[in-house]
Amino acid sequence: MSTVDNLNLKVGRVMANRFIIEEMVGRGLEGEVYRVVEKHTNKVRAIKLFYPHRNEKQKVSTRIAKKLDKLSACPIVVDYIGYDILKFKNQNVACLITEFVEGEILSEFVDKHRGKRLAIFPALHLLYSLACGLESIHHRGEYHGDLHLDNIIIKKFGLEFDLKIIDLHHWGDSKKDNRDEDIIKLIRIFYEILGGQKYYAKLPESIKQIICGQKRSLILKKFRTVSDLKKYLESLDWSDAVK
Ligand SMILES: Nc1ncnc2c1ncn2[C@@H]1O[C@H](COP(=O)(O)OP(=O)(O)O)[C@@H](O)[C@H]1O
Ligand SMILES: [Mg+2]
Repeated sequence: MSTVDNLNLKVGRVMANRFIIEEMVGRGLEGEVYRVVEKHTNKVRAIKLFYPHRNEKQKVSTRIAKKLDKLSACPIVVDYIGYDILKFKNQNVACLITEFVEGEILSEFVDKHRGKRLAIFPALHLLYSLACGLESIHHRGEYHGDLHLDNIIIKKFGLEFDLKIIDLHHWGDSKKDNRDEDIIKLIRIFYEILGGQKYYAKLPESIKQIICGQKRSLILKKFRTVSDLKKYLESLDWSDAVK
């Protein structure tokens, strides 16, 4: 039997007698994401359909659904709405329903800025908002598992950033290792939004002290938990960044 690796649902199609397809908003190796409207309530939702060959016995998708449900009190995590198994081309396809986050993907937000990078102060604020959000996940014993610029959506920003993270992953290995990996990824995001390698050498010392040359062992020694990073930022002296 051929595997389902391309669903390409047409706009206007009704799924499970409940959701009207509006637009495909993402496609990757794992599956496809659509913006849909719930027929009876007119509410906009996001639906992720998992390709069956990447999701044996729906193990991966079920774990992710449970994890999202467990994290429903974390404001930074996309709201879980529901989970179902539907038949497409006679195969079971897992379908994860979440809130649809209106906003801008972090990578696009950064690209719009001059030099495709943020200034120090907004970058620090963004890192702080992410650290606070991640702390609420880690406090519940969980991890994100795939933090990068395309899995973060900025809903709005003023003095603070109102962020949502999507696309949580489940890996079979230790949760502690995965939480460490989240911290490394957070520092990587900070480095990238400040312009990456091209600008690293020119960054003020106080900022380099956070990035630690991206050395894993140095970062994890300095920030044993994401709460350490949060506290570090709260008392950071970044006066060397003022020129
Ligand atoms: N809940 C959501 N609200 C708004 N946009 C979403 C949502 N989920 C996914 N997207 C969009 O779809 C893209 C792919 O979704 P994602 O869950 O990251 O899947 P993958 O990275 O595995 O393809 C995202 O980068 C984002 O642009
Ligand atoms: Mg993604």
